[in-house]
Amino acid sequence: MRHLIDTTDISVEEVDRIISTALDIIADRKKYSEVCRGKKLATLFYEPSTRTRLSFTSAMMELGGSVLGFSDAASSSVSKGETVADTVRVIGCFADIIAMRHSKEGAPLVASQYSEVPIINAGDGSHAHPTQTLTDLLTIRREKGRLNNLTIGFCGDLKFGRTVHSLIKALSRYEGINVVLIAPEELRLPSYIRREVCDKNHVPTREVATMEEVMPELDILYMTRVQKERFLDEEEFERLKDSFILNPERLRNAKKDMIILHPLPRVNEITREVDNDPRAAYFRQVENGKFVRMALIYTLLEWAKERPTSQTPRIADDLVRGEMRCGNRQCISNCEDVDRLFRPTETGDYRCAYCESKVKQ
Ligand code: CP
Repeated sequence: MRHLIDTTDISVEEVDRIISTALDIIADRKKYSEVCRGKKLATLFYEPSTRTRLSFTSAMMELGGSVLGFSDAASSSVSKGETVADTVRVIGCFADIIAMRHSKEGAPLVASQYSEVPIINAGDGSHAHPTQTLTDLLTIRREKGRLNNLTIGFCGDLKFGRTVHSLIKALSRYEGINVVLIAPEELRLPSYIRREVCDKNHVPTREVATMEEVMPELDILYMTRVQKERFLDEEEFERLKDSFILNPERLRNAKKDMIILHPLPRVNEITREVDNDPRAAYFRQVENGKFVRMALIYTLLEWAKERPTSQTPRIADDLVRGEMRCGNRQCISNCEDVDRLFRPTETGDYRCAYCESKVKQ
């Protein structure tokens, strides 16, 4: 059974095929209007969402399928203590495919180990958001005409911003990508992504203190919200929340064909005046999210037909079991009884399979 838990669960060729399918859907919506007739998507959202949940819903409806699920875990048996593993076993009796958002990092991976239907990670804590990445890639492809030879500046909360983590992983598999990181010291990109993703794939990265100093070089400016809900210290959030604000003045030296992306929701990191700039692509990006999720649902259901299901939990080949404990309190492995799984790194360390935190041995 194929799932989408992390951006790299699908090859570059498969990503390109999903994007091509999305482009075909955009060109001929009618052709796809019945391809999921009789199929059901379950949306299990343990965390708030507007775009992701409703675009999944809209996507499945446009494919001719139907949707069930919850948007408030408190109204489900999760509030009685039901685990992720049991929940997906149950939902698999009612639905053909599941999209899950969870505040605990790695929860969708646990779901994939027990599910008899494809699981899509719709965002897990600060960790990953692969369907936002597909949205971003489709948007870049439509706006810039290519996914290679791009200089992209990521600005804002690069520590907790799961969309940034997933997009950097995805783009690092393409040629000629340059990454510029613009963040306060406290919200820098996790070092493992810089070392184990960018450096490993020979993607140059550079940290700068201001947007202005790199603006003329950028093909894409990817703005992000400071993620209030991830802060343990409210004072720290208040101190950092206005670190980077994009306004028309700061865009003065930007390329005429640069595009501004933002996964949304925005708070105040992009002023309203910027919305009128033709380079502001973030609302076009939202609509692309629906098309690419249509392509993804359709593709995963096609792949599911090709592969027989099995009752045994599925564990990726490159993971090992161990007695160590993950130190990340936001990791699902510290909240539910799950297999202790780790991924060995090239330097002889281990990373938690669920949240990718380094683990002390
Ligand atoms: N971009 C995104 O994930 O938005 P929502 O939180 O509204 O789903």
